[in-house]
Amino acid sequence: MASIKRCYSIEDLRQVAKKRLPHGIFEYIDRGTEDGVALSGNRAAFERLRLNTRFMVDLRDRDMGTEILGKRIELPIGIAPTAVAGLMWYQGEYALAKAAADAGIPFTLATGSLTPMEKIAEAGGRLWFQLYMWEEKELSYELVRRAKSLGFETLVVTIDSALGRLREHNEKNGFTFPFKPNARALVDMTLNPGWLTRVLFKTIIKSGMPKNANYPEHYQPMVTLRGTPKPKANKGMTWEDVARLKEMWDGPMLVKSVMTPVDARMAVQHGADGVVVSNHGGRAVDSALATIEALPGVVDEVGSETTVILDSGIRRGSDIVKALALGADMVLLGRATLYGIAAGGQPGADKAIQILSTELEKTMASTGCRRPSEITQDVIATPPF
Ligand SMILES: Cc1cc2nc3c(=O)[nH]c(=O)nc-3n(C[C@H](O)[C@H](O)[C@H](O)COP(=O)(O)O)c2cc1C
Repeated sequence: MASIKRCYSIEDLRQVAKKRLPHGIFEYIDRGTEDGVALSGNRAAFERLRLNTRFMVDLRDRDMGTEILGKRIELPIGIAPTAVAGLMWYQGEYALAKAAADAGIPFTLATGSLTPMEKIAEAGGRLWFQLYMWEEKELSYELVRRAKSLGFETLVVTIDSALGRLREHNEKNGFTFPFKPNARALVDMTLNPGWLTRVLFKTIIKSGMPKNANYPEHYQPMVTLRGTPKPKANKGMTWEDVARLKEMWDGPMLVKSVMTPVDARMAVQHGADGVVVSNHGGRAVDSALATIEALPGVVDEVGSETTVILDSGIRRGSDIVKALALGADMVLLGRATLYGIAAGGQPGADKAIQILSTELEKTMASTGCRRPSEITQDVIATPPF
């Protein structure tokens, strides 16, 4: 697709995504919560860090792969769970899963995804499943069992959403989920006939109105109709629930949205095999620290005994070097690959991964690192915070 070919950075993909999506849907993925302070803070914190260059290292023998949860991945990168990827592209979650499988990196399917997990399993590769725990715990357990039986290898439990979040811009432009038809959103969609044909009509023709395809049957209409019953978030979730999930899953489990040493320690004590340092890409708590600022504390507390993953704000390969230098084992991409599929389906996601991989490789080379294990704190020039 011509427009993807002319993309040289994640920002270029973002600009194409902006043109190809209805304004309200673009804002839904692009913006943060409340005033967008955490969103811009993630970028600002990465940008404040500078790197020490180190040249004249023999770079002929390089390897970008690393081992995560006992298995090799080809890049220290994975794809984060992003519900409604299916509104970026027809079966957008499948496009992301295929892109990840082709690149040899993990893909995480969100609880709220619009593509059934049975379809995602066909993509192959390393599949992780993200869980938001519901009040009706048995429904959550059913989902977990279903993911397990389909071969998803890692359970990712997200802990930051008990009371939901405030995203005023969604209310203003009419794109809240579940979606309630309103004049503003309908005009916005009509002004974007490309998206209507490529995504919405194609979805409706092939599989009916977009819905949370992995929810229990009687809750599924929720994406398109407000007022239909929906599963309630579990407001009483505690670490005991995490321990129970670990028992049931009987496989690697990550806890996502860990921002403090205390929560990292609790996660490990309750059976986590790793933590994801994440502020939900600035979409959850607007006064949250940037994740690259929160990372050193978490690594000091649990880094020697467990896997530490970082997400939120990764837009350049140098961001990945900075995260690994401060102790992360790998990073996850949220918006970077979402912009990719919005710009052009799987080839767009491939392009996002390829851009970041090339930038990562070149930044590693300029800091004298031939493999992820050689990226240590010495590459950080500025004192970290
Ligand atoms: C549109 C969108 C939907 C998301 N949905 C989920 C979700 O369902 N579950 C979850 O754990 N995180 C979700 N996230 C957060 C991502 O997993 C990830 O933490 C975040 O996007 C990383 O920041 P980045 O977008 O700056 O890379 C979502 C993010 C976006 C942008």
